[in-house]
Amino acid sequence: MCGIVGYVGKDAALDYLVDGLARLEYRGYDSAGVAVLQNGKINIRKKKGRLETLEASLNGLPRGITGVGHTRWATHGKPSDRNAHPHTDCSGRFAVVHNGIIENYLSLKEWLQSEGHTFRSETDTEVIPHLIEHYYQGDLEEAVRQVRDKLEGSYALVVISAEEPGKLVTVRQESPLVVGLGQGENYVASDIPALLPYTRQVLILDDGEMASVSPGGVRISDRAGREVKKEVFEVPWDAVMAEKQGYEHFMLKEIHEQPKAIRETMRGRVRDAEVVLDELGLDTGQLANIRRIYAVACGTAYHAGLVGKYLIEKMARVPVEADLASEFRYRDLLVDEGTLMLVISQSGETADTLAALREGKKRGARVVAITNVVGSSVAREADDVIYTWAGPEIAVASTKAYTTQLVCLALFAAYLAQARGTVGKEDLGDFLEELTRLPEKAQEILDREEAIKRFAKKCARWEDTFFIGRGLDYAVALEGQLKLKEISYIHAEAYAAGELKHGTLALIVEGVPVVAVATQPGLFEKMVSNITEVKARGAEVIAVTGENGPEMGKYVDHVIPIPQTHPMLTAPLAVIPLQLLAYHTAVERGCDVDKPRNLAKSVTVE
Ligand code: AGP
Ligand code: GLU
Repeated sequence: MCGIVGYVGKDAALDYLVDGLARLEYRGYDSAGVAVLQNGKINIRKKKGRLETLEASLNGLPRGITGVGHTRWATHGKPSDRNAHPHTDCSGRFAVVHNGIIENYLSLKEWLQSEGHTFRSETDTEVIPHLIEHYYQGDLEEAVRQVRDKLEGSYALVVISAEEPGKLVTVRQESPLVVGLGQGENYVASDIPALLPYTRQVLILDDGEMASVSPGGVRISDRAGREVKKEVFEVPWDAVMAEKQGYEHFMLKEIHEQPKAIRETMRGRVRDAEVVLDELGLDTGQLANIRRIYAVACGTAYHAGLVGKYLIEKMARVPVEADLASEFRYRDLLVDEGTLMLVISQSGETADTLAALREGKKRGARVVAITNVVGSSVAREADDVIYTWAGPEIAVASTKAYTTQLVCLALFAAYLAQARGTVGKEDLGDFLEELTRLPEKAQEILDREEAIKRFAKKCARWEDTFFIGRGLDYAVALEGQLKLKEISYIHAEAYAAGELKHGTLALIVEGVPVVAVATQPGLFEKMVSNITEVKARGAEVIAVTGENGPEMGKYVDHVIPIPQTHPMLTAPLAVIPLQLLAYHTAVERGCDVDKPRNLAKSVTVE
């Protein structure tokens, strides 16, 4: 959600701000604004609504050498022109953009008002420029440092001042912020895609750090004001990878990138019929001593964790509990030296997931992260990181991140089984052989997209839909329902197929669509029973099932076949038809596929 951009250098601030905000649109927002400093004056334009509305208001604004921009995802104060960022102090000498929540803003606001400050907005953010105005005595960094020490909560903020042109002062606390290094110009952004057309040389700020950015350089200091030397990070992506490359939506591009993403994620990790995870700092003894695993995440990543549970328990014989990060952190956790946490997050910045990671670490768990963003908060705070190499995922609805998370979980399960000797060499070899063939099988499904697209025309008229499955297929059903409802806005629910008759069957009437995921060999007969239960009540049943598996056609109305694979590896294949179904249904319904209403790509508030 929300986004920040900042520029300092040549006479091109406004160009970068507008382009940078457009490249962060996928993060979700409700209003936007820019501030450009020119000849000692801070010029501001800010508007509720989409970026186009803001752009239409920019006439007459100078380009400037110093500027900041913001896309807001409102937390305090409704979306409006007045509540949009940037916010300024009484004198208009300081302008601030902010991502996050200032939890103690009310007491600060009351104090500032008692000191005579006048507020124009309802936001928590607006306390920041007024505090800077209060503390400023000729040194912007020092003033911002004093303000930072007064703030509680999460914030990525960028400050510009008419008193000190040619300077951005930025602070990072939980909300992401990166600095891009140019030639005679430098950039700030919430996320890497906003920097890619300009530079791939990036400095990633850590919590509590401040960066003072000028055209000639960047000075980073820690909370105590001591200079911090940071290694420049070379971003492995280019701007083209972050673009649509001819697809109508980022989501469709990312669905079709899955064979490549799966291949890249496996690269170098399967050698001579063994799994190699050198990035894990766990030796054989430590792996053998793991007695309990928590797989913790949100949304789609949680659904991946559920699949991981089945894989790890089956292969490594270690009990796994998959839990929602937003619930996990409130439990009285049972953690000891044999506890491992698998923290799964595409963005690596999800507030609930970060909070759960910190809670588990505090209690002594060893944390292994599975994330798609190098240098993300989750990556930096975990003890070990297994990266998904899916490339930038821009669409709000997660697809290639999910399938590559499943690949990492399969690799981890096999790695653990290797260390604990719980799977025979031949069985392990068969599993890994099938794992390495997933990309080509995924491509086979994508090659059948047209059939699913035609079917989606019918789905577009659905109102209530149910997804059912047993075992691994239930975890896939959960992901399928989330994909459909979050981008097509059709109400969808997933049920363990055996659970339907314990209540929800009351909702199955004539014509209600039911998607049955039935890939698990040992559960086929049971699934047929559940399918006939709903058919008997008039449901229209669509089955996703293995193409060489038992004949399903005689029990259902439509069959979507997937290539046969190892029973433990059906999830990354079975999900693809469900992703395509959701995508084409949403397009048919004219929905904003890449930026669904109310949603954000990275939920950095709790
Ligand atoms: C998935 O399609 C959603 N966009 C959402 O559920 C997402 O998976 C969730 O917010 C977790 O995000 P993360 O993987 O970046 O932590
Ligand atoms: N809490 C601030 C506001 O509501 C910032 C929200 C955001 O991160 O965009 O304006």
